[in-house]
Amino acid sequence: MKKIILTGAGGCMRELLWQIQICNQVHPTWEVLGFADICDQQKEVEVGGIAYPYLGDDDALLRRREETHVVICAGSSRLRKKIATKLKQNPQIYFPNLILTDTRICPDVQMGEGNIISMDCRISTNVSLGSFVFLNLGAVVCHDGRLADFVTLSPAVRLAGAVTIGAGSELGMGAKVIQGVQIGTEAIVGAGGVVIRNLPDGCTAVGVPARERTGGSGRNSVFQQGNARSMRDGRGSFREE
Ligand SMILES: CC(C)(COP(=O)(O)OP(=O)(O)OC[C@H]1O[C@@H](n2cnc3c(N)ncnc32)[C@H](O)[C@@H]1OP(=O)(O)O)[C@@H](O)C(=O)NCCC(=O)NCCS
Repeated sequence: MKKIILTGAGGCMRELLWQIQICNQVHPTWEVLGFADICDQQKEVEVGGIAYPYLGDDDALLRRREETHVVICAGSSRLRKKIATKLKQNPQIYFPNLILTDTRICPDVQMGEGNIISMDCRISTNVSLGSFVFLNLGAVVCHDGRLADFVTLSPAVRLAGAVTIGAGSELGMGAKVIQGVQIGTEAIVGAGGVVIRNLPDGCTAVGVPARERTGGSGRNSVFQQGNARSMRDGRGSFREE
């Protein structure tokens, strides 16, 4: 079993804990030591009847002197980048690729570090993922796709062949992109959008077909989830990006 610590402590982390439990039922792979979060008042988080201890904040991770494997559990690309940049100050921290159950990944797929490939994802031939890419439940990347660092594909996103997505871009639930389309960096595609033309850096596009939308950042409310305590309490306090 490989020992890991999760950081992020929101709904994303709890969902990944559930997926790790399922993964371990099939192939015992990951021993979760506990979780870290900026919130210092949590004692433990319980998922599926198993309690996971709180290990401290991100600074506690920075102080670790032994080799430590960390998974960054944040649906927000910006937040993943912020946490990764901070944790990389500690050379003892490693970022494994977390590949969960019922995924199908062609053996020639290239990927960096810190990627999360959730249950039921499909990644076809000659795809390359950078680092800290998050493929949420059931995302599909067809042949020759290119996903740069910190890209987020929400559940059930579908990319046709040879789609390119720039660093830090986020695609909402169920979005689809037709073949050969290039999406720039830090772009947002709204839930359910169908992208049929290239999208520039930093844009937000919604609808079918997806069109660029002006106004509203879309950044602060939609791709990140409250920490476990605030979500249970129904308060919406979010880890700051
Ligand atoms: C696109 C998105 C980022 C926009 O967020 P926002 O800036 O807060 O936008 P608002 O809710 O203020 O809506 C602004 C306008 O865009 C429209 N809009 C927002 N999201 C839309 C979507 N997905 N499809 C079509 N139209 C959308 C709204 O109807 C509104 O239109 P109006 O100005 O004519 O009334 C967000 O709505 C979205 O789809 N996020 C994806 C969330 C997701 O899938 N998360 C995954 C979690 S696992």
